[in-house]
Amino acid sequence: MQSSQNQQFNQLVCNFNQAFDALASNHYAVIPQFLTSTLREALLAELLQLQAQGLFHEASVGRGLGQTRQAHIRGDSICWLEDHFTIAGQYLALMEQLRQQLNADFYLGLRSYEAHYAHYQAGSVYQRHVDRHKDNNARVVTTVCYLNEDWPIEAGGQLKLYNQNHELLLEQSPLGGSLVLFMSADMPHEVLAAHRSRFSIAGWFRQD
Ligand code: OGA
Ligand code: MN
Repeated sequence: MQSSQNQQFNQLVCNFNQAFDALASNHYAVIPQFLTSTLREALLAELLQLQAQGLFHEASVGRGLGQTRQAHIRGDSICWLEDHFTIAGQYLALMEQLRQQLNADFYLGLRSYEAHYAHYQAGSVYQRHVDRHKDNNARVVTTVCYLNEDWPIEAGGQLKLYNQNHELLLEQSPLGGSLVLFMSADMPHEVLAAHRSRFSIAGWFRQD
């Protein structure tokens, strides 16, 4: 790992302790400055470049043969991260550190991580859903990292996170560089429409 990345990680470990406590007791946590502004900018630039190359596709809902595009339910376009992407590779390396730390602290048995860049155009939403699929319990912890430079509250696009009883726990603006973590199994959440393009990386630590 490069030394600047190492430095960033050492800094992160301190932030993690607090976040991990929150994750354990509340099932969610927010790390406000997870990314340096340099890494955030580089990720956003890479996202835009991949998009210009036509490597994004419209996300669908459902699984397997039941997959369909239903933009009123889920309106984002995505591109899955690959280790060989120059900048996304750095993000994946950070998440690997996070995975090991989560396993060490919580014995979660997290074995892999998958993530995609996401672009919500103005007006797009993701209606209330749970990330763990009904027929597949692989997803354990959800991560969402936001890439926009600045985000005034009136731009909308909040992530709303609920508990099992559908009581609101968190309403989070997609503030650039911040990371939200929550348990994938039992936390309904939704993305509200924004007045501008909203860029992020959504990912999942998996137990398979
Ligand atoms: C998802 C998701 C939340 C967000 O991609 O499954 O819920 O704030 N994203 O982008
Ligand atoms: Mn989700």
